[in-house]
Order: sequence, then C-alpha cells, then structure tokens
Amino acid sequence: MNIKLNQVLICLFCIGLLFSCGESGNTPTNQAENNDGVLRIAVIPKGTSNIYWQTVHAGARKAEQELEGVEVLWKGPSVETDKEQQIAIVQDFIVQDVDGISLAPQDAEAMVSVVERAAQKMIPVVIMDSGINTESYISYVATDNYLGGQKAAEEMAKRLNDQGKVVMIMNDPGGASTNEREKGFRELLQKDYPNIQLADEQYHYNDREKARAVMEDLMTRHTDLSGVFCSNESSSIGALLAVQANQLGEKLCFIGFDSSDDLINGLQSGDMDAIIQQDPFRIGYEGVKTVVSHLKGETVAKRVDTGVYVVTKDNMNEPEIENLLHPKLDVLQ
Ligand code: BDR
Repeated sequence: MNIKLNQVLICLFCIGLLFSCGESGNTPTNQAENNDGVLRIAVIPKGTSNIYWQTVHAGARKAEQELEGVEVLWKGPSVETDKEQQIAIVQDFIVQDVDGISLAPQDAEAMVSVVERAAQKMIPVVIMDSGINTESYISYVATDNYLGGQKAAEEMAKRLNDQGKVVMIMNDPGGASTNEREKGFRELLQKDYPNIQLADEQYHYNDREKARAVMEDLMTRHTDLSGVFCSNESSSIGALLAVQANQLGEKLCFIGFDSSDDLINGLQSGDMDAIIQQDPFRIGYEGVKTVVSHLKGETVAKRVDTGVYVVTKDNMNEPEIENLLHPKLDVLQ
C-alpha cells in the first residue's frame, strides 16, 4: 500500500514541476510577473546611420511616451548590410525574453530563422519597413514600396515626356523594401513607357561613397543619359554628390527615395526633381503600438500601410509634406 502511495505522490510532484517550468510566454496574464507590469518592446532597425532610422526611432519613442507601462529597447546594426549583427541583436532580445519585437529585416531570407525562433518562444514580432520570407509575424507595418517605385516611374516619364535613357541605383539584393521599389519602377517603365530605356541598374550596398562612384561611372558610360532613379536615402545622397560635382542637375531628371537635409537642399537647388517620401515616424510609432495592442489581447491588422508621397519643389512646403520632411525628433533628446 505504501509503495502505491509513494508512486502517486512522485507522479503528482513531477506534474507540478512540468507546469512550473512551462515557457515564459508573454500572454497578457503572465507578462506582469516577468517585468513588474512593464512591457519591454525591442525595436530593431536595419541600421542606425541614415536619418530615416533616427525618424523611425522618434516614432517608436512617441508611442512609448503615449503608452502606459511600455519600455522601448532600441538597438540596431551600425550598417544596413551587417546581417550577422542584426541576427545577433534579435537573438539577444529573445534570450532576454522581451515581451515583443518590432523588426526591420535587413534581409528577407537571412532573418527568417531568428524571427521564427522568437515566435516559437511566444514573443510576438511586428515586421516594419521591409518584408520577410515567413508568416511568423503578427503584422507588417510599412510603405507600399512597389507603389513607391511605380510613382517614381510615373514622375520620371512625366518629366521626360515619355522618352529617354535612364539608369537606376539600387540598394541591397537582400532588402525586400528596396527590391520592391526597384521592381515597381522597372516593371511600370516596361509596361507603360516603351520609349524610356532603362539602360543600367547597379547596386551600391547602402554605401554613400559607393553610390557616388557608381553614379560617376554611369554618367561616364552613358553620355546621353536623361534620368536616374535611386531607391533609398544613401543611394540618393551619393548620386546627388556626383550630379552636383559634374553640374548635371539641369540636364538629368533625378528622382530619389527618402529625405534628409542634403536631399531637401537638392530639391530646392533643382539638382533633384522629386523625392519619393515615406513616413518613417509612423512606421516606428505603429510598430510599437501594434505589438502592444497584440500583447493586450486586441486584434491587430496583418498589414498596416503607412503611406507614400511624391515630393517636388512645388509641394514641399505644404504642411503635410513639410511635416514628413522635417519630422519632430525632439522626443529623442
Ligand atoms: C532605407 O532602407 C529601407 O528599408 C528603408 O525603407 C529606407 O528607405 C534606409 O536606408
């Protein structure tokens, strides 16, 4: 009889152990025990050097200020092409067992395994800015980048009267956001503008100096060039330096992506014709708000489109555009 009772007691003890060692998931009921009621949200950009990401950071901080009991943990690679570093940053936040993650994947494929690992650990992930080749996330908060590329093609065609030779400076083969822009630009030209020749496409790998060298080379090789499209901030800034050094602003139709003081000055001086502008502040803001809503048990949209705008000298002083070009970064002080 005693042996039987002992066996029952041992079984009950083991069952109790199993329940007490379960996953430290982040469902609304037990997150309080993990963080004294504070929800820790890791916000991980592609990089930190472009103004674009400082604006994403400001949006994330604004959401943190507005939300009670939320702490944003901001950490990103110094350059946008260091995939190993970004993977390590995400992995470190998984080990810390943060309550949620808002991530801009540098590479749509390379970041898949670490995002799936977070999901397996019950850490919800919002993908912001740039897509990823997995469904293991709760929401995708980004610009419609394909549409952004199409808008660049339409603006280029309008300014070239539907004819001419153009080139494109692309970002990074693994980056989904810029791939989409480049695809949108390329495919609309092919479909609707047969008299515009896309003569060359070169990567600059998010390196401004390389973008400048690429633009110099393209201008040398294509002396009859009519236009250039650059698919992000660093390629636009690098190409602008080359256009200004060769005084080709009047000759070329130059359409960039993203804004910074240099690019805004390029619009004002006439060296640039248009900028395709995103809303990085909103991307950072909605990324944090969305993961927190999920943690509170609210339903969140699988896709949040944060908008895309064509900015020219004619509309750059309109209030809505002005706010996008000069976002409030004081929240970062
Ligand atoms: C750029 O990289 C993209 O993912 C962002 O949308 C931005 O355009 C910053 O270098």
